[in-house]
Amino acid sequence: MVKHPKPAWEHPIYTEEQINKVTVAHREAKTWSDYVALGMIRTLRTVMDLATGYKHDHAVSLGKKDPAAANQKYAMTERKYLIRNIFLESVAGVPGLVAGMLRHLHSMRRMKRDNGWIETLLEESYNERMHLLTFLKMASPGPFMRLMVLGAQGVFFNAMFISYLISPRTCHRFVGYLEEEAVLTYTREIADLDAGRLPQWEKMEAPQIAIDYWKMPEGKRTMRDLLLYIRADEAKHREVNHTLGNLDQKNDPNPYVSEYRDLTKPHPTKGIEYLQPTGWERKDII
Ligand SMILES: [Fe+2]
Ligand SMILES: [Fe+2]
Repeated sequence: MVKHPKPAWEHPIYTEEQINKVTVAHREAKTWSDYVALGMIRTLRTVMDLATGYKHDHAVSLGKKDPAAANQKYAMTERKYLIRNIFLESVAGVPGLVAGMLRHLHSMRRMKRDNGWIETLLEESYNERMHLLTFLKMASPGPFMRLMVLGAQGVFFNAMFISYLISPRTCHRFVGYLEEEAVLTYTREIADLDAGRLPQWEKMEAPQIAIDYWKMPEGKRTMRDLLLYIRADEAKHREVNHTLGNLDQKNDPNPYVSEYRDLTKPHPTKGIEYLQPTGWERKDII
């Protein structure tokens, strides 16, 4: 028996240059649906930061004046970051699955084609689960965190299920904004690592599961490299969901599986060669 079957989806190859180019970004809210999605994300982020005592900006500014006090008050240790990442990744794997499932069911009951969205959505949740499995190689959450994951999954799955039935566009925008936060968090982790605040990570190697999945080249398999790959994935989800949120949910084809006549012109792809931090506008791709 083969112990590790091939992954369901091959990960596209990211180059070093591409993953270094990923930046924090924000898509301005324009419609009511955007504001609802953004409001939800801002609220969730505040609650999450409060619950976990995570105050990055405070920590950095106090750290400059009094490192010892900052450490005592807000220190994000390697373990704290890992547990936070594990929790967030366990939540992040939900929306793609729910959206993919609902579009699958919709296609069957309406006896209509799906226009290719399902695959991209399921692939996203697979990718998030790979993030989770990777972090689980580095830390194991205690019973309290496991209970939190269980509770969050129960609530979030059902909330997403109902919300996606009501307004899939708002849900994609919501995920777009969620991924903006994910890019921000991983950018901060990389900054903390570079600033010497996470010494255990400095010499740490990426686990084998990650090396295989992202096809990390030799000599580029440190924890820092891994965080760059994961951040790039989040930036891709940010682009995909902001793009899907711009489309006609019922009639437009999935631009990520469409074929393009002029391949020399930037167009949506599975990789990050033409990454669009705020998504593709409908008029440019349909
Ligand atoms: Fe993720
Ligand atoms: Fe993500």
